[in-house]
Amino acid sequence: MSATHHLRCIGCGAVIPGAEARSDFRCLDCNELYEVVYAWSENAPESARKQTAGLPNPQALRYVWAERKNSNAAADASGVWRFRDLLPILKDTKKPVTLQEGNTPLYELPRCAKVANVDRLLAKHQGMNPTGSFKDTGMTSAMSVAVDRGFEWVACASTGNTSASMAAYAARAGLRSVVFIPDGKIAWGKLSQSMDYGALTIQLKTDFDGCVNLLTELVKRFPIYLLNSVNPYRLEGQKTPAFEMLEQMDWQVPDQVVVPGGNLANSSALGKGFLELKHLGVINKVPKVSVIQAEGANPLYRWYVDENRVMAPMKAETRATAIRIGNPASWRKAASVVERTDGWCEQVSEQEIALAKAEIGAEGVGCEPASAVTFAGLKKLVRLGKVRSDELTVLLLTGHTLKDPQYTIDYHRGELLRPEETAQASAQEMAQHAALRKAPLVLEPRADVVLRLMEDLMKTEMPV
Ligand code: F0G
Repeated sequence: MSATHHLRCIGCGAVIPGAEARSDFRCLDCNELYEVVYAWSENAPESARKQTAGLPNPQALRYVWAERKNSNAAADASGVWRFRDLLPILKDTKKPVTLQEGNTPLYELPRCAKVANVDRLLAKHQGMNPTGSFKDTGMTSAMSVAVDRGFEWVACASTGNTSASMAAYAARAGLRSVVFIPDGKIAWGKLSQSMDYGALTIQLKTDFDGCVNLLTELVKRFPIYLLNSVNPYRLEGQKTPAFEMLEQMDWQVPDQVVVPGGNLANSSALGKGFLELKHLGVINKVPKVSVIQAEGANPLYRWYVDENRVMAPMKAETRATAIRIGNPASWRKAASVVERTDGWCEQVSEQEIALAKAEIGAEGVGCEPASAVTFAGLKKLVRLGKVRSDELTVLLLTGHTLKDPQYTIDYHRGELLRPEETAQASAQEMAQHAALRKAPLVLEPRADVVLRLMEDLMKTEMPV
């Protein structure tokens, strides 16, 4: 067996060579999604199990990966391809389409830890990727496969970040790209990116789920490489932040990892990363992976609390537009990660998201609204006793704060939430909102006016 990987259907278990996938990446037999499997995977196909050449050496991986940090070669400078031993999906993994993605910071959030009542809280900030979101880690992998397969066109439906990322990587690869976005429902920063990077940008008068339906139809009629996260190669890149996080923690496995949930590929990918490392014996336990959704876009949460475990697609509504998704493609994969890692699903309100975002901002870190659901969710999980104070937790922040500045400005001006949403806040939350809001002031250009203001402020407490 010469192939380095196969695609395995998560529904019926059918295995096919990567190049034989249908254009919509759905199984020919049961219409479910595929996952990428290798000879060393837990789910390796029978024929691949006999393969002995080209297997990763689990004992050496940590050292090989650390060593590559000292190299300036393109594949080593990428925080995805540095881990290429566990994603051999290209003809030549040393020649990927890359923007030096990954290599994102892991921040301490001491004030947020205090608010959430945990001893220590970390944030892996995937918004610090080249196009400002975690999508870049999956785009480098899937775009490189598009080049390998010889496509001229690539396409995605998006709530804004996938399209920004795809447009950039298509430009790097010299491919034509077309993005489908819901008209009026994506943040300006993201819309501007796809235009800046030269994509054909099409706003459809529908929501994200409607954009997905149209594109699924289109790829069957025209040779376009689909770069939505139904494409299993996206998840191969998106699993690497799990490796990088562990490396940054000197291989201490966190107890809990909290991820926002939209189309549910990111949680699936991170879980795959952790579970693969455990299967290979690189780590001896996996963190509990919990998925948090906005109350108005919560199909996985509903599945989780439903005693019959039924997934019911819904009409989604939330100001966290990145996760305004009612029919998540990868829900089965994410559900399996939550179950296998013993994690949780939670939902959070618009008021809770706004407060959490302001709290992360006040740490000097910042993120876009969809990322803030993680912190809002963590506070809930701690209150419910599902996360203990002494458990080490990592939040996955998925997008940069500059992606959606309008949300931030509206919040600080007190124009974001409707009165009935604000009314849901507890007295303590009300006080936190009041302390965090920093609306810009318009003053006369006189030093004494500004000084008086600053003196008044000094009578209030410094943030701790
Ligand atoms: N956070 C951000 C900032 C996102 O852009 C997304 C998804 C998610 C979280 C949820 O990740 O879908 O893997 O569960 N954005 C997609 C897009 C759908 O089109 O940009 P998920």
